[in-house]
Amino acid sequence: MLDPQPSPKPSEIRKETAFLDQTLRPEAWHEYIGQEKIKENLKILLTAAKERSHPAEHLLFYGPPGLGKTTISHLIAREMGSQIRSTSGPAIEKVGDLASILTNLSPGDVLFIDEIHRLNKLIEEVLYPAMESGSLDIIIGKGPSARTIQLELPPFTLIAATTRIALLSSPLRSRFSGGVFRLEFYTEEEIERIVKRSATILGIEIEDAAAREIAQRSRYTPRTANYFLKRCRDFAQVTRGTLTSDVVSKALDLLEIDQAGLSALDRAILRTIIKNFNGGPVGLGTIAAALSEDEATVEEVNEPYLMQLGLLERTPRGRVATKRAYEHLGIPFPESRTEKLL
Ligand code: ADE
Repeated sequence: MLDPQPSPKPSEIRKETAFLDQTLRPEAWHEYIGQEKIKENLKILLTAAKERSHPAEHLLFYGPPGLGKTTISHLIAREMGSQIRSTSGPAIEKVGDLASILTNLSPGDVLFIDEIHRLNKLIEEVLYPAMESGSLDIIIGKGPSARTIQLELPPFTLIAATTRIALLSSPLRSRFSGGVFRLEFYTEEEIERIVKRSATILGIEIEDAAAREIAQRSRYTPRTANYFLKRCRDFAQVTRGTLTSDVVSKALDLLEIDQAGLSALDRAILRTIIKNFNGGPVGLGTIAAALSEDEATVEEVNEPYLMQLGLLERTPRGRVATKRAYEHLGIPFPESRTEKLL
């Protein structure tokens, strides 16, 4: 039995979560593990901008969730000695919302727009001149008496992040003159270092083998690794154990995370394609509907990792489960499929 404890109020839980997320976020480049190529490129870009006493040019980061797009954006602002103003595509509902954000910037500020692929097309068009020539074109009035006024904006750097680069129009993409960077999945060694760093910050004692076990099941993603670390810490605390690889194994088994880091939903996606649709090809919408899941979640969260492991392929006719997916789930691979896939 657990010791009776007064349960924390929801507001306290939120505060604790926010506190944890903030403390684990690297605050200097030397603390940021991985993404070496991006860091190298940014170092040159930012040094050159600083030498010219100019804000950095606009930057776009894309890739699966949890790889550190927001963290990098904060590090850039810090490096430039700038304030960062954060918003997101869906939060900017009207042209007026964007106009208000832009006109309230101070010279040199970084404007961070998360989920930029969800920005409304009309608003996107207001962003073009703002990015290109630092001006805001506002239409006043309607019909024949309508006129445009142009406001000059303070120089700023737009940093945008998206999990769905393909949904960005090419005019928008081409305006990120500083560069478009794809965040890669981390290596297991990098994740292991991130887990150890987080454990130190949280005051958790963890064996090397336990950190490795978390890394192996973390879908090469720091956010997942940090989440697992905290859940394993809870498990160790409740069972009065220390964080060994055995405890990690039990805690992650309980969360239904398998040896390859697949969640119950990842496995359900593969099983649905194999059992209900003969291994595919089958459309994304059909898979999501069969599982009563959100299409965007399946596409943005689950599929990148399944493709990374070579368990799923995206073809023009739909999603296909690979031979490796059958093997992973212990389902015999029908030889007739070999010809179909060729
Ligand atoms: N926490 C989350 N992402 C990280 C990273 N890339 N390096 C260090 N700690 C992290």
